Amino acid sequence: MKIDISGTGINIEQHLDTVNDAYKNYDKLRSGKADNTGWVDLPFIFKKGFLDDIKRIANDIRSKCDLFIVIGIGGSYLGSKAVIEALNGNKEGFPEIIFAGFNMSAAYLKKIERRMTHEAVCLCTISKSGTTTEPLLTYHILKNKIIKKYGKEEGNERIYIITNSNDGILYREAIENGNKLLNIPNDVGGRYSVFTSVGLLPIAVAGHDIEKMLKGGAEIASSVEWKEKLLNYAICRVVLQKQGKTVEIFEHFEMNLEYFGEWLKQLFCESEGKEGKGAFATCLSFSRDLHSVGQFLQQGNQIFYETLICIKKKEYDFKIPESAGEPYAGKSLEDINTCAEEGIVLAHKNSGIPIIVVEVPELDEYNIGKLIYFFEISCAVSAYTIGVNPFDQPGVEVYKREMYKLVEELR
Ligand code: PA5
Repeated sequence: MKIDISGTGINIEQHLDTVNDAYKNYDKLRSGKADNTGWVDLPFIFKKGFLDDIKRIANDIRSKCDLFIVIGIGGSYLGSKAVIEALNGNKEGFPEIIFAGFNMSAAYLKKIERRMTHEAVCLCTISKSGTTTEPLLTYHILKNKIIKKYGKEEGNERIYIITNSNDGILYREAIENGNKLLNIPNDVGGRYSVFTSVGLLPIAVAGHDIEKMLKGGAEIASSVEWKEKLLNYAICRVVLQKQGKTVEIFEHFEMNLEYFGEWLKQLFCESEGKEGKGAFATCLSFSRDLHSVGQFLQQGNQIFYETLICIKKKEYDFKIPESAGEPYAGKSLEDINTCAEEGIVLAHKNSGIPIIVVEVPELDEYNIGKLIYFFEISCAVSAYTIGVNPFDQPGVEVYKREMYKLVEELR
């Protein structure tokens, strides 16, 4: 993996105050003493026993179902969905993973309910607090369905719960009903929980190698070279924000990274966006979005910088049929995709748009583990460096309070 910040025009050495702050904040993160940083050492501290447990539970799930429904919202689902999609879905012979509980659309749930009638299913509800409205409601609706289909005993054997709160409703439910229960560590927040059972169980059920993912994370966490690279990225982000570039556009030319983009949006927006600070993180899928927002990028209000995730080796390709005519006939689809990618980098650089390029050799478990850890640490360092707490989200509570009042008035 390579990180190229040269397209931002920033000379890190001219920003020594930010550099010093970022290095101090990195040490704070790695010290083991700061609140909510239990995730920082996760790639190292996993005992073989823990991974074996996850793999055993995943095998058990695989033996029971073709469809594994994961219920969760925000950090309780985005990481595993991002990884599974990046790896092109479930491996052959492993259950299909679908996600629910991240919205309250009855139409969305209806489609899942229909599939539950015909397919062998297991259910996993993931909520650290155990009280979040969307997953809680979805869980109760789908739990009834699964119990109706399989009966109380077998139904409950098909339900898995991942939670933290020992006195929460979800925890009590799981104990009472005899569901398989897994823990989310206290000091790991939702959006930093991919390397816990929250992310690892669904990924393992889909047949992917979770050990390789952790090795990728550990590689970033343990090398001096990577420390410098991720800090340079974090420093660049802070400097760009100071220069008025208050939107970070993540972008890629690989549709399988669409949910990785959703994960990045949450990671950066919830970690940095507070006290009137932070860069608004968004993600575009190219070349699709070049035909919609591409115009804005090239000639619109220049309040943004770009972070392009560029995948070098693609797993699949097509040869363009002769019937497509010149200049395409006989060429590789992915080579043409790469021409569009190189074209955008040149066009945007020539127009003075700051662009960071993250080059990934290929989309496998190891490199995805690296990407996740790279962005998690850079995000936490940037947030500390702009002076906010990366690990809370007080703003999210505001809409919840308004919603609860309205729900209580419902008849
Ligand atoms: O990153 C976070 O902490 C949040 O996005 C949470 O993951 C999200 O709100 C879901 O919370 P819970 O797992 O408690 O249901």
